[in-house]
Amino acid sequence: MPKPDDSAPPVPHVPVLLAEVLEALAPLPAAHIVDGTFGAGGYTRALLEAGASVTAIDRDPSVRPFADALSAEFSSRFNFVAGTFAELDQLVTGPVDGVVLDIGVSSMQLDQSERGFSFMRDGPLDMRMSGEGETAADLVNHLDESDLADLLFAYGEERKSRRIAHSIIAARAAEPITTTAELARLIEKAIGRKPGDAHPATRSFQALRIAVNDEFGQLVEGLFASERLLLEGGRLAVVTFHSLEDRIVKRFFDPEKGGPTQSRHLPEAAVEAARWANVVKAVKAGALELERNPRARSATLRGARRTAATARSVTDARLGVPRIRGAA
Ligand SMILES: C[S@@+](CC[C@H](N)C(=O)[O-])C[C@H]1O[C@@H](n2cnc3c(N)ncnc32)[C@H](O)[C@@H]1O
Repeated sequence: MPKPDDSAPPVPHVPVLLAEVLEALAPLPAAHIVDGTFGAGGYTRALLEAGASVTAIDRDPSVRPFADALSAEFSSRFNFVAGTFAELDQLVTGPVDGVVLDIGVSSMQLDQSERGFSFMRDGPLDMRMSGEGETAADLVNHLDESDLADLLFAYGEERKSRRIAHSIIAARAAEPITTTAELARLIEKAIGRKPGDAHPATRSFQALRIAVNDEFGQLVEGLFASERLLLEGGRLAVVTFHSLEDRIVKRFFDPEKGGPTQSRHLPEAAVEAARWANVVKAVKAGALELERNPRARSATLRGARRTAATARSVTDARLGVPRIRGAA
C-alpha cells in the first residue's frame, strides 16, 4: 500500500457524490479511468485507491501541486495531462474503461479572490479557468447591450437581464467595470435584493462564467469525445451543478436521441442502435452528505454504459444547449 505523501498540499475541495460516482464507474482493479476534471483529485484518489490507473485532465494550471502529490504516491498508475476534456480522446491513449466529468468550478477557484469567480469576494473580474482568452471583464465592457442581456438570459436564466445589461452599459460609460465587487453592487442596485433570496448577482455570474469558459461547448464536445474513447462496456459518469447542464447530459444519454429518430414511422431496421445502455437516472446527494457539504445541494449525477454501436458525430442538435439570441 503506498504511503501518503507528507508534502501533499491540503485538500480544500470536498468531492461531491463520491460514493455514487464510484458505483457508477464500477472500476475493476486493473481498469483505466479518465478523470476529465481533476480539481484537487478527490475522485482520482478514490479510483487509485480502488486499484485503477487514472489519467487526469484539468484546464486549470493551478491544480498541478495536487497532481504532483498523487504522482509521488501512485507513480505509474497516475498520469496528469493539462488541457480540456473537450479534447479528451486526443490527450488520452486508450483503451479506456471509464470517464468521469465533474463539471463546474472547484472550491479552490471560488475561494481565490484573484480568480474573480465569486461575487462574495472582491477581485479582478476574470473567471478564466485556464488563465487564457477573454475575461469576464472583457465581456462586460465590450458586448453591446442586447448581446449582454441575451447572454445573461440564456446562460443564467436571469429574467431581469435587460435591466442589468442597461445598468452595466450606463456604468461602463463612465469607466470600465473591472472587479467582482463593482459588478455585484451594480447588479444589486439594478434589480434589488429580497431578504432570504440568493444574491441578485448569482445568475449573472453563472452566465458570465459559462460564456468565458465555453462551458456548454466543452460539455458537448467532452460527452462525444467520451463516446469515441470508451471501450464497449466502459462507463461514463457526469456530475453537473445546474439544470441547463443536466438537461444536456440527460438528452445525450437518452436512447431515443441515439439514432435518426426524426420519424416515428421509420421501419425498425432503420433506427440505429443506442450508444448507451444501463442509463442511471438522476442521482442526488443524500441528507448526510448535504449536512457535511452544502455545495452538494445542486449536484446531479448521471451515468451509463457504452454499447458496441459506432460513435456518433458531434452535434448539439436536440441536446437543449441554450442559445444566445442573435448568435450564429
Ligand atoms: C468541480 S472541480 C472537480 C473536483 C474534483 N472532482 C475533485 O474531487 O477534486 C472541476 C474542475 O474541472 C476543471 N474543469 C472545468 N471545465 C474543464 C474543462 N472543460 N476541461 C478540463 N478541466 C475542466 C476545473 O478547472 C476544476 O478544477
